[in-house]
Amino acid sequence: MKLKTILLSALLLTSASMADDMALKQEGVKYIKMLGGALKTQLKEKMKEDKSGLTALAFCTGSADKITKEVNTKLPEYATVRRTSIKVRNDKVNAPDATDKKVMEQFEADIKAKTLAPKTIVMVKEGDITRIYKPLVTKSVCLKCHGSNLDPKIADAIKSAYPHDKATGFKEGDLRGVIVAEIKNH
Ligand code: HEC
Repeated sequence: MKLKTILLSALLLTSASMADDMALKQEGVKYIKMLGGALKTQLKEKMKEDKSGLTALAFCTGSADKITKEVNTKLPEYATVRRTSIKVRNDKVNAPDATDKKVMEQFEADIKAKTLAPKTIVMVKEGDITRIYKPLVTKSVCLKCHGSNLDPKIADAIKSAYPHDKATGFKEGDLRGVIVAEIKNH
């Protein structure tokens, strides 16, 4: 092959795999939004309904995992979506693995250095699986159940449902966790 042809094929290959990555990223973001959207809409409604946060807390406790499973049944069989955190509340279903931890530690470092772009999405390829991560930054509404100095009723309800809860003490702007979509080559 002539050099020009080789270079051209290399260029085409690179742009083809870049296009594949773009498509994967878009697909992952779609699943992330399905889960994030379902949880956020309902959380907002419940917080409006009852300002104490107790109704919303009961909703998260009773339904977050159920909603996550429901959203997963709507995805193609090669894909999943879930939430995790370094400091988890529900360690039964949301515990992070080593890759999750590495990505979240990087997000935390970026937040500290003030370099985390608002719409950051990180892709990690492992074997035939691509993971797509979206950081969840703590907002003021999250503090009612994830902040410091919780209302004693909220604190009690959390303690009885999650005896190993680690998900308090967050401040606005802290990394609360991530939503991660996993897409298998297909
Ligand atoms: C009304 C209380 C409440 C509010 C407000 C709330 N959460 Fe939670 N959060 C919970 C509960 C309860 C769980 C555990 C759900 C479960 O059992 O799966 C949870 C779990 C999570 C998890 C999954 C990881 C883990 O720790 O188990 C993430 C991520 C999370 N919350 C982020 C947020 C963010 C971001 C906000 C603000 C936009 C927020 N939460 C607001 C109660 C709340």
